[in-house]
Amino acid sequence: MTGRIIAIAGPTISVDVRGLCLNEIVLVGSAGLTGEVVRLERERAVVQVYEETRGLAVGEPARGTASPLTARLGPGLLAGMFDGLQRPLERLLERDGPFIAGGSRCETLDERRAWEFVPLKRPGQRLLAGEIIGEVAEGVVRHLIRAPSDGEIAELSGGTFSLGAPLGRYCDGSPINACQEWPVRRPRPYLRKLPPTVPLVTGQRVVDMLYPLARGGTAIIPGGFGTGKTILEQSIAKFSDVDLVVYVGCGERGNEMAELLEEFAGILDPWSSRRLMERTIVVANTSNMPVAAREASIYTAVTMAEYFRDMGCHVLLLADSISRWAEALREISSSLEEMPGEEGYPTYLASRMAGFMERSGVVETLGGGIGSLSMILSVSPPGGDFSEPVTQACLRSAGAFLMLDSSLAHSRHFPAVNWFQSYSLYEQPMVRHFSRTVGPGWGEARLRCRQLLQREESLREVAEIVGLEGMQEADRLILHGAERIRQEFLCQNAYEPEDAFSRPESSLQRLEAILADQERLAGSMAAGATLDELLVTEGQHAAE
Ligand SMILES: Nc1ncnc2c1ncn2[C@@H]1O[C@H](COP(=O)(O)OP(=O)(O)O)[C@@H](O)[C@H]1O
Ligand SMILES: [Mg+2]
Repeated sequence: MTGRIIAIAGPTISVDVRGLCLNEIVLVGSAGLTGEVVRLERERAVVQVYEETRGLAVGEPARGTASPLTARLGPGLLAGMFDGLQRPLERLLERDGPFIAGGSRCETLDERRAWEFVPLKRPGQRLLAGEIIGEVAEGVVRHLIRAPSDGEIAELSGGTFSLGAPLGRYCDGSPINACQEWPVRRPRPYLRKLPPTVPLVTGQRVVDMLYPLARGGTAIIPGGFGTGKTILEQSIAKFSDVDLVVYVGCGERGNEMAELLEEFAGILDPWSSRRLMERTIVVANTSNMPVAAREASIYTAVTMAEYFRDMGCHVLLLADSISRWAEALREISSSLEEMPGEEGYPTYLASRMAGFMERSGVVETLGGGIGSLSMILSVSPPGGDFSEPVTQACLRSAGAFLMLDSSLAHSRHFPAVNWFQSYSLYEQPMVRHFSRTVGPGWGEARLRCRQLLQREESLREVAEIVGLEGMQEADRLILHGAERIRQEFLCQNAYEPEDAFSRPESSLQRLEAILADQERLAGSMAAGATLDELLVTEGQHAAE
């Protein structure tokens, strides 16, 4: 099915190709730029092109591919770096240099790289599509290979192979490949969803202690410019206790991505002591790459994440920032002249967002194992105004809300998570889990920490009016304790290797030590000492 371009408006073009389907991939122009059908009209189809359309002319050819946008899934994804259309950026760099030419094609997965296949099925056995036929060791992951279709095995041998050739074949002659293609906009199937019960340890004290996240849960990190969204997302990417991380750099600065990659290449995963990059997949659509592909990039990423979830892995998808994705959606919608909703975003913004976040969860996989996909998305509300549509749409589906506060960031309190307005719906089961696995004092310490912070808040006004000297001793003790909690517990310097990551055990210890000091001071004060006297003697002890 071929035809021609009949109109061009930026990345939105019309073609007269017959018989196209909605969401079908169309290759347009002499260069064969990749686009997706976003609307069908009687005589024409409207195509959203995911590459730079400059230089494209009316009359150039266009052809349908009879396939939707798919992700290629198989060995070799780990440690990979892809653009929104899943083109491998490193191999493109090697081949073509630092600029991606329009219509560039490159195998997503390296077809020459050698892998070791261990078959779990034998010739003569009947397979159902999706059934596990064997495995390949890929870094930290036992990469399970599934049957591409129903059929009886004629040949299937173990040993070294590469993706360029099939692993074996069915009795009807069709190949058994180690790779599969999956339409990115369709969630991958599972048996059933289970409630999240296990914490996602982030290594950030304020998150793990006050607003715990769950494996299989969703969290959003909204914050104005410079409040530390990127640093927090990257810290979580480094330190969270998951099997693998899919990091989507969505519309943010390219140099940040470059720094991230450089850093990841060097450091080790604190949980497995392997190179961090070995458990990471990066999808990059930075601000200097075509906007339209940004819309697709999060789907490409979540499809890869689901693929590993289906192997029983615990996967974390991080996106920085989802607002840039929503802006891309808005741009596409307006070029289609759809009816605009609030602030020009399409009316279906919230349902799209919900549909995407719905792909997270703990699931029983088709193979009967348990896997999870967690999501942490940063949101950049313009002007730091959280009432704007994207933040609101995210709020409806997110299980945890880590609100970054500009005034905290200004006073260099990082991570600038506001400890009154943030929340986590996973709180109860996660606190129970930490109490069981880390220390029975977890719940109590957490409660006392929150009480101190709350009482400080209500005392703050008094302190401003009467000054510290005019306050009662007991109240001054509270201010002293809360200050220590903020400085020594909630703050965490991402640039200080000793501090950047905190295991739940050491977080609890640190908090309990501050609380024990408070108790001790309160005891001495009850016996008649003043806070100033006590702090002076403590200071002397510390100095000795
Ligand atoms: N945990 C942290 N420790 C130390 N500095 C931080 C931390 N988080 C943020 N910062 C500081 O804040 C700056 C802005 O952070 P960034 O994540 O780039 O903000 P955003 O992505 O929200 O615009 C960083 O360059 C860094 O100086
Ligand atoms: Mg940022």
